[in-house]
Amino acid sequence: MLIRSRRLRTTTAMRDLVAETTVQARNLIQGHFVQPGKDSTEISSLPGISRNSVEATVRQVESDLKLGLRSHLFFGVPDPSDKAPDAHAAHDHEGIVPVTVRRLKKEFGSDVIVMTDVCLCAYTDTGHCGVNEGPVIVNDRSVEILARMAVAHAEAGADMVAPSDMMDGRIRAMREAMDAQGFTQTGILSYAIKHAGAYYGPFREAADSSPKFGDRRSYQMDPRNAREGLRDALLDLEEGADALMVKPAMPNLDLIWRLREKTLCPIAAYHVSSEFSSVKAGARMGWLDEANLFREHLLAIRRAGADWIVTYVAREALEKKWI
Ligand code: PBG
Ligand code: ZN
Repeated sequence: MLIRSRRLRTTTAMRDLVAETTVQARNLIQGHFVQPGKDSTEISSLPGISRNSVEATVRQVESDLKLGLRSHLFFGVPDPSDKAPDAHAAHDHEGIVPVTVRRLKKEFGSDVIVMTDVCLCAYTDTGHCGVNEGPVIVNDRSVEILARMAVAHAEAGADMVAPSDMMDGRIRAMREAMDAQGFTQTGILSYAIKHAGAYYGPFREAADSSPKFGDRRSYQMDPRNAREGLRDALLDLEEGADALMVKPAMPNLDLIWRLREKTLCPIAAYHVSSEFSSVKAGARMGWLDEANLFREHLLAIRRAGADWIVTYVAREALEKKWI
């Protein structure tokens, strides 16, 4: 036998020599939920993740930084009484997200990368990602509100805003609105390919953002489609996105790969709540090895071509040296 592939698999040192993929702290983005008040609330469907107060969030980020975990994505969970048809709390400059961002930037400055989710679903009374007229989620008025939300986050000092709403034309509107206010250095990480479906259940419990009627299929993408997402992703780049995200991650490794081949910008993948919670649940049952499963998830996502991975497991994976 001339070729014996096993020669390169004999020892740990040899396997490390030929390893093609790494997952490092700098590739990971930790997701956070922030809520008003002094209390932290555990999220039963996301074991280990809590909705934290601003001060608890600051302390959490401080300990995360010691792990080398510098990039963080924040979701606001406003007081339920602030939900309204026009989602006005979403662009309140004193809202929960801008207040958190200001505190983090005051404390950690350029040591931390602060990214903020920009979407209306935690702020509308309907739980939809845009404002509604009857059963219809209206696009252009939603985009105006989303652009104001992006400006509020930029003004507070966010490094990147991350629109997840899936309205048409939002990237251009946000870029223009932020530029007009002088926030030319605030980046946009677009949730460019985002499929509708069952993968976001635990998140919606965490963010109290389930739709009160219907579903999100008139704005999020159809999981049967690939070209649809690639087309929109390229459009987002033309509209001024700095980086593109694919979500959920594991069901869309094909799209991460195809996007990698089609573009030159950084690509992020969102390892979403159900991808996290299903492993946690299986581990609790004693059915699976979470350390190695999470490691293999993260490796597969990186191997498919993602530069960054948003994941709830970032902190734990670094703490416990799973990667
Ligand atoms: C808000 C948003 C969602 C997620 C990220 N931003 C929920 C949704 O679209 O319903 C999902 C994240 C996760 O499941 O971890 N639009
Ligand atoms: Zn939303």
